[in-house]
Amino acid sequence: MTPAPRKAVTAPTLSDMKSRGEKIAMITAYDATFASIVDAAGIDVILVGDSVATTVQGEPNTIPVTMEEMEYHVRLVRRASPKALLVGDLPFGSYQVGPGQAVANSVRLIKAGAQAVKLEGGLTVSESIRAIADADVPVMGHIGLTPQSVHRMGGHKVQGRREGFEAGGRQRLLEDAHAVEQAGAFAIVLEGIPAHLAAEITSKLSIPTIGIGAGVACDGQVLVLHDVLGLSSRELTFTKRFADLREISTNACRNFVEEVRAGTWPDDAHSFD
Ligand code: KIV
Repeated sequence: MTPAPRKAVTAPTLSDMKSRGEKIAMITAYDATFASIVDAAGIDVILVGDSVATTVQGEPNTIPVTMEEMEYHVRLVRRASPKALLVGDLPFGSYQVGPGQAVANSVRLIKAGAQAVKLEGGLTVSESIRAIADADVPVMGHIGLTPQSVHRMGGHKVQGRREGFEAGGRQRLLEDAHAVEQAGAFAIVLEGIPAHLAAEITSKLSIPTIGIGAGVACDGQVLVLHDVLGLSSRELTFTKRFADLREISTNACRNFVEEVRAGTWPDDAHSFD
C-alpha cells in the first residue's frame, strides 16, 4: 500500500502539535536540492536561516547577509515545493529601524515564498512582532543567544546563566519570552540557554518553543543543516553530526581527481559512439 501523501504543515499545525505533546523537528535549508531532501525526511519546519551567511557565504557571523540574499534563498527553497512550513529569517538591519520596516521586509519574504518569518529579540522587538502579526504574517520569535547580537554579547555566548533583568539575565529572558508570546508570535526559538530555564519557559508559554542548545524539554528542536550533515568544519557543544558528508564529499572529489589524472575517466560506458 502506498503511504498517504504528507499533509502540508502550517503555522497552526505547530500549535496543535504542542497541544498533543508531539515534538516539532525544524532544520535549515538554503536551496532547492537540500530543501527536497529534508522535506522527504519528514521535517516539520524548514528555516531559511540567516545562518546562510556562515554556512554558504563563508562569513564569520550572520551580520552581513542582506534582504535581497534572503529573498533569493527563500525563492530557491520554495521551488522544492516542500510540505514543511517554510520560515524566512529577517536578516540584521531589516527590522531594527522599527515596525514599519519590519512589516515591509516581512512582506518581501512572504512574496518570495516564505509562509512565516522569524526575527531575533524579545521586549525590544515586541512592537514589531505585533505589527507583523497584525499584517497577517505568522511570526516566530527567537531569544537567548541571538547571533545578530554578537557584538553586544561579546561573542556567541550562552545566555540566562546569571540572575537579572538586564539583557541576557535569567529574569529578562522570562520577560522576553512572555513579550514575544503577548505580541502575537506563533512559536519561539530558544537558543543557547540553560536547559532548566528553557523547560520553565516551555511550561509557562502556550506557544511552542523550539530549542537549539536549550535542552530536551522544548516543544521542538532545530539544527543547522550543515552541522547535521557534518558539512561544517565546526562542531559546537550543542550540535551533532548525524553524518560526515564532509569526508564523504572530499573522498568522492578525490576519486574523481585521481581518475581524471589516470586517464580512466570517462570510460566507454560514459562516452558516446
Ligand atoms: O539562522 C539560523 O540558522 C537560525 C537557527 C539557528 C535557529 O536562526
